[in-house]
Amino acid sequence: MSNKIKIGIIGVGSISHEHIQAYKKMPNVELVAFCDINPDQLQKMAEQYGVKETFTTKEEMLEKADIDAVSVCTWNAAHAECAIAALNAGKHVLCEKPMATSVEEGKAMKEAADKNGKLLMIGFVRRFGNDARIITDFRDNDFFGDMYYGKATYLRRNGNPGGWFGDKSRSGGGPLIDLGVHVIDLLNYLMGQPKPISVYGATFQKLFDRPTIKDSVDYSSSTANEKNICDVEDLASAMIRFDNGAVISIEASFSLNLKQDEGTIEMFGTKGGARLNPSLELYTDMNGYMTDIQLKTPTALDMNGLFYNEIKHFVDCVANGIDCLTPAEDGVTIMRILDAIYESAETGHEVLIKED
Ligand SMILES: NC(=O)c1ccc[n+]([C@@H]2O[C@H](COP(=O)([O-])OP(=O)(O)OC[C@H]3O[C@@H](n4cnc5c(N)ncnc54)[C@H](O)[C@@H]3O)[C@@H](O)[C@H]2O)c1
Repeated sequence: MSNKIKIGIIGVGSISHEHIQAYKKMPNVELVAFCDINPDQLQKMAEQYGVKETFTTKEEMLEKADIDAVSVCTWNAAHAECAIAALNAGKHVLCEKPMATSVEEGKAMKEAADKNGKLLMIGFVRRFGNDARIITDFRDNDFFGDMYYGKATYLRRNGNPGGWFGDKSRSGGGPLIDLGVHVIDLLNYLMGQPKPISVYGATFQKLFDRPTIKDSVDYSSSTANEKNICDVEDLASAMIRFDNGAVISIEASFSLNLKQDEGTIEMFGTKGGARLNPSLELYTDMNGYMTDIQLKTPTALDMNGLFYNEIKHFVDCVANGIDCLTPAEDGVTIMRILDAIYESAETGHEVLIKED
């Protein structure tokens, strides 16, 4: 009898490679079953990773496979149904970001986790970076003072991935829910998780997926690469206000006439500030002089390291019952923000965020 944690993966597309490769490195984990509604993709992945139990429906996998936990790596609109089914079948769940496509779905997922006494962890992978760990350490030692403003951009000039990413019925939205979600969550987390109270947002659908561009860069991260649907925004901009007076400003795009792709994450406090990308720097004044601080600690972004850390944390939570760093309730909070930004963009007004 093995007492390894047995894992199933629902949705074996592009990002599932990160989950699978991380699980395979862990001696206390056994990768047991794969599920995908696309039988060709399912077979390809099963052969590549030598996984014998394969299923084209989550129901069959959850009924027949001997598993303790699942990674949900489907497109966004299937997260809720897959996570809820797995939780109701008594499995722990690691669900990719964004948690869902609406706060209602997110709340139903959390309820299923609570009802079944199982873990629902959300894949906010950026929280698992070295840079995030160092910033929280500085924050907890009061380097920043009162952190009152955060600012992030995640902008692509010509980076609509195509496939389901452009199809709102499967993605729930465009760059806001796909890219913006990472930086909204990261800034909120680094700034000590104040409670969001209102947002003002704008979204634009002007360039679509830039069908006339000839020298297109291939951004396809999805395994589904059909290019026939694009009904999501191509730019989103938003300000999010928190109960402690802090504000976050974010911009995210798939298509935008800017010089080059841009990714910045910055935060500012009364005593100090910081920038995470492209490298971690801290700013303060010392002895009356404006001072920039560069750490000698290796802080480079390593995406493989990020996913490994995240998935290792999930396994540690399941195996040892430790507190989860990215619990379902945080996913629901971020869904409240995303829903409110889309609502504000539609109405043209600030939207208040209320908990029920
Ligand atoms: N954390 C990150 O940085 C990061 C990066 C990329 C993608 N993601 C997230 O991962 C998820 C998947 O993205 P991807 O790029 O791997 O997409 P993908 O299209 O490559 O893979 C998704 C797979 O899910 C399958 N699927 C869809 N609905 C299903 C269902 N009900 N049951 C079983 N299988 C189903 C599809 O057939 C497909 O094979 C998305 O939620 C995305 O936001 C996260």
